[in-house]
Amino acid sequence: MKKMKVRKAVFPAAGLGTRFLPATKAQPKEMLPLVDKPIIQYGVEEAMASGCDQILIITGRGKQAIEDHFDVSYELERMLEDRKKLDLLKIVRSISDMIHVAYVRQKEALGLGHAVLMAREMVGNEPFAVLLADDVIDAKVPCLQQMVEVFDQKQCSVLATQVIEGKMISSYGVLDVKPVDSPFGDRLFEIKNMVEKPRPEDAPSNLAIIGRYILTPAIFDCLANTPTGAGGELQLTDGMRLLLQKEKMYAYVYEGRRHDTGDKLGFLKATVEFALKREDLGDPFREYLKGLQL
Ligand code: G1P
Repeated sequence: MKKMKVRKAVFPAAGLGTRFLPATKAQPKEMLPLVDKPIIQYGVEEAMASGCDQILIITGRGKQAIEDHFDVSYELERMLEDRKKLDLLKIVRSISDMIHVAYVRQKEALGLGHAVLMAREMVGNEPFAVLLADDVIDAKVPCLQQMVEVFDQKQCSVLATQVIEGKMISSYGVLDVKPVDSPFGDRLFEIKNMVEKPRPEDAPSNLAIIGRYILTPAIFDCLANTPTGAGGELQLTDGMRLLLQKEKMYAYVYEGRRHDTGDKLGFLKATVEFALKREDLGDPFREYLKGLQL
């Protein structure tokens, strides 16, 4: 059988961003900047670096700024050209030149599973990636690329996972897994079961699902048959549990550092770490931090 490639990346971005009010009252949370780049752009760049050449963003009301961001901004380009600000012009152009982005609107925020189901027509009958932009993963080899390598071998769905200690596990989809023999060593597991946001005492393990998925197109039928779950939403985790009855699925403990930028403290930490890594800002920012009386 011909090996399938992951070419399409889906970004659910219709959520209301209530965790970040009031900043997200009139602005999508995906557009909040980490240093000077909107959160969603980190994810789009990761998808491209991992071999995806088609980006699909699932948007909703109030998300226009995302579309404008990846579009050409004639007025801004003209102004920068006139003022000979060529460095900035290059940055601005590189975003719209980056890749073709398509949009589908999710009319109501009915859950992550519902958002992914909106991608059905555009994705068609091929494997695809789902990236939750809130989870920004800083890694030498992009997290999705690491997962693509697993997919290329296994030709099965692959979920990113990370150990989460303590009660915080209840904020995640949680996996029940068994070890597998593979060239990926102890990073790869076969998934036996999964549950969305269990109580800490009910969590089957401390392995949480992180916002990177490679899914086979069979997920769409599963999602279409998934009843409403936790929080009254159509949960992707519930759909994937149905998929598990039909196909093998794997969990991969990626190498990298994840920031939950949907959380205020996580956002602040990410901002500090990314700023410290910047060539132009790192040194003066480090000096500034050192001088704080903490
Ligand atoms: C979503 C998923 C959850 C996953 C998490 C990763 O939850 O439903 O299974 O563990 O993303 O960030 P959310 O953070 O949207 O509540």
